[in-house]
Amino acid sequence: MPTLLITGANRGIGLELTKRYAADGWTVIAACREPQSATTLKAIRGVSVEALDVTDYTAVDKLAQTYDGTAIDLLLNNAGIYGHRDGALKVSDFDTYLQVLQVNSVAPMKLALAFLPHLKAAQNRNKMGGAKIATISSRMGSIAESGGGAYAYRASKAAINAGMHNLALDLKSSGISCITLHPGWVKTDMGGAGADIDVATSAAGLKQVIDGLALKDTGKFYNYDGGEIPW
Ligand SMILES: NC(=O)c1ccc[n+]([C@@H]2O[C@H](COP(=O)([O-])OP(=O)(O)OC[C@H]3O[C@@H](n4cnc5c(N)ncnc54)[C@H](OP(=O)(O)O)[C@@H]3O)[C@@H](O)[C@H]2O)c1
Repeated sequence: MPTLLITGANRGIGLELTKRYAADGWTVIAACREPQSATTLKAIRGVSVEALDVTDYTAVDKLAQTYDGTAIDLLLNNAGIYGHRDGALKVSDFDTYLQVLQVNSVAPMKLALAFLPHLKAAQNRNKMGGAKIATISSRMGSIAESGGGAYAYRASKAAINAGMHNLALDLKSSGISCITLHPGWVKTDMGGAGADIDVATSAAGLKQVIDGLALKDTGKFYNYDGGEIPW
């Protein structure tokens, strides 16, 4: 069965995606910051829970070493933070701004590069191809759809869109697809109770897009419903 590596798997959209891939029979390596308190995650069959703060790049390399020789079919960069909810024309805390960039923009690139050998191994094993990097971005990172405010979050998601788009170009010849996705406005700790959709709707849509992804679609920015979002 194929193998998934997912970050931020202990709650929200990441937990729901983990449940769905495990239910489909995938082997899931589920990374989260505090496995000791990830009770729901640890109860899912077929899931290996690994401790990982995605901004600890030494730990990312260690995890890649731990799984040396393991083929990974899908890397799902899901972990993310919003940072301060400052309004327009206000940023109260630039340390937080940097932290948002570290988690949302730098860490997914670090994971993609650290686990490239594992993705290539899956690609070689499965002659039909299909190794994928899917990164949960946000519509708020679309410059075409800018709405002002939320500078750190918007900039972080624009940066990962650019990073993954360029990685897609470089990995196309290896047969590895690489996309970013907007999960919708989702009822999670981040999205809040007033959001548009529940995690089940979001994760079902995201999974359908990721599972149906072909190499010809690499480098695109997708909504959870399969529509394309302008950069
Ligand atoms: N909810 C929405 O409406 C919405 C909309 C657009 C995009 N998104 C994106 O969707 C993704 C998932 O969001 P969500 O709504 O499920 O958020 P959430 O419920 O707040 O969950 C965020 C997840 O990211 C993890 N995380 C944060 N910082 C981390 C770090 N340094 N290392 C490892 N894990 C870390 C959290 O782990 P801890 O439990 O340890 O904090 C948690 O598992 C994010 O990338 C977010 O930007 C969400």
